[in-house]
Amino acid sequence: MLSNKIAVITGSAGGIGKATAKVFIRENIEGIAIVDYNYEAACKTAEELGPKAFPVKCDVSNYEDVQAAIEKVLEHFGRIDILVNNAGITRDVIFHKMTVQQWEQVINTNLNGVFYWTHGVYKQMRENNYGRIINLSSTAVRGNPGQCNYSTTKAALIGFTASLAKEGGRKNITVNCVAPGATQTEMYDKVPDEIRQAMIASNPMQRLGQPQEIGEVIAFLASERASFLSGQWIPVNGAK
Ligand SMILES: NC(=O)c1ccc[n+]([C@@H]2O[C@H](COP(=O)([O-])OP(=O)(O)OC[C@H]3O[C@@H](n4cnc5c(N)ncnc54)[C@H](O)[C@@H]3O)[C@@H](O)[C@H]2O)c1
Repeated sequence: MLSNKIAVITGSAGGIGKATAKVFIRENIEGIAIVDYNYEAACKTAEELGPKAFPVKCDVSNYEDVQAAIEKVLEHFGRIDILVNNAGITRDVIFHKMTVQQWEQVINTNLNGVFYWTHGVYKQMRENNYGRIINLSSTAVRGNPGQCNYSTTKAALIGFTASLAKEGGRKNITVNCVAPGATQTEMYDKVPDEIRQAMIASNPMQRLGQPQEIGEVIAFLASERASFLSGQWIPVNGAK
């Protein structure tokens, strides 16, 4: 259960973030900030989730935006106990054709966005002697053609997570990575059809992951049941 806890999930207007928010509500979370740069979609999601959900507009790749969003969440809920750094993008392209912009967009969202949010909420977690931070990595850390930018960010989160877990331990702050395999969301819809079919065929379970299946693991890591589990990278990928 997540009773008496306040959570932030970035990129939670859709996909894995929204599915995780639904699991958090089922687990009786006290309050949850639905953070997304698509504010219209965030409001729609919050409406669907009910009165515990609070929509917040924020581009995680923009430092000032993140600071303002954290202030808004703290004003509304008073504290942040759980941070799920979920917002992420792909800009897949073979390396010799990758532009600086495609490199920087992915680094700024998937990596700098995690730094901005975590840095902004970590101090109050230390003061409260409590925190659960869950970062969305990916099994793409093992490498995929066309994903040099994306794989770099998702691998970097493993080191970030392991180091911060060692710093946060004495303040009762756990930090973990969840690493989904191919999961049925809009992000996955952008993958060309023949690659998608190959991904399904090569998975031992012969299917994609469902967003809720990722959300269940995130909810476990966010809960008291995972109180001594920290610094880990946990693949959720049907054994692929
Ligand atoms: N779907 C997969 O197969 C898969 C596999 C491994 C890891 N992941 C990771 O899981 C996370 C969620 O992925 P998803 O499949 O649900 O993606 P998605 O594209 O379906 O949803 C991402 C959400 O993040 C929001 N977002 C994107 N950039 C943002 C920004 N700069 N600021 C605020 N919000 C932003 C989008 O508006 C959207 O609501 C990502 O970090 C992704 O890298 C996904």
